[in-house]
Amino acid sequence: MRSTSDIVRKMVWGSEISHKEEKTRIAAVIAAKAKNGEVIGVGSGSTSYLTLCALAERRQREQLSLMAIPTSLEISMACWQLGIPVTTLNEYLPDWTFDGADEIDPRCNLIKGRGGAMFKEKLLIRSSPKVYILGDSSKRVERLGERFPVPVEIVPFTLSVVERSLSHLAPQGIELRMAEGKDGPVITENGNLILDVWFDQITSDLEKEIKSITGVVESGLFLDYTNVEAVYMEPK
Ligand code: 5RP
Repeated sequence: MRSTSDIVRKMVWGSEISHKEEKTRIAAVIAAKAKNGEVIGVGSGSTSYLTLCALAERRQREQLSLMAIPTSLEISMACWQLGIPVTTLNEYLPDWTFDGADEIDPRCNLIKGRGGAMFKEKLLIRSSPKVYILGDSSKRVERLGERFPVPVEIVPFTLSVVERSLSHLAPQGIELRMAEGKDGPVITENGNLILDVWFDQITSDLEKEIKSITGVVESGLFLDYTNVEAVYMEPK
């Protein structure tokens, strides 16, 4: 018997979805790729949410057997609402994954993590043979860092140590991400803080350099992932 709380059943996507028409068209293209019996990694953010909705519709219409590995609580809850069975990386590896991004450069390098879910997103992207990154026209950049900082998830008690180490990488600025709807900083699903780090130049070693700092859990920088393909839908 299915057990879904009233709150989950009535849940709606919290904020207004930017570029919704483009995102909805990409969602349909990606949902059409699903095959019966697949385990699919599901990224976070509004593009992933709309794609999950399109996938749920197909699953229902064609009676497909599908499982999802979600990258955040927000997407897990959407799976519960839509009736899509959820599993974990401890039980299954994804056949493929879809996700959004904040910036995508011409070589498919990415900045992700506006939603704060970059740790699990990176875990899924690293565990998937194929990853579709869904981009609307606002996501294309010539150079990473044009519009977004690099989010860095850190263990709370390492804040000043990490801040000092990050400052050796010549950032333009480092900000502690503050919460909306709660006092104080954003706390990730892993109980950590997020530093948003602005860089003028993102060099090819930067992802590894950030990751090598003790206290850093993960960053939202994705450089040279050969399994990643960007899929764009331009405005009509
Ligand atoms: C969340 C992410 C999202 O994929 C990214 O922020 C894009 O969001 P949206 O699809 O809402 O534009 O990285 O951590």
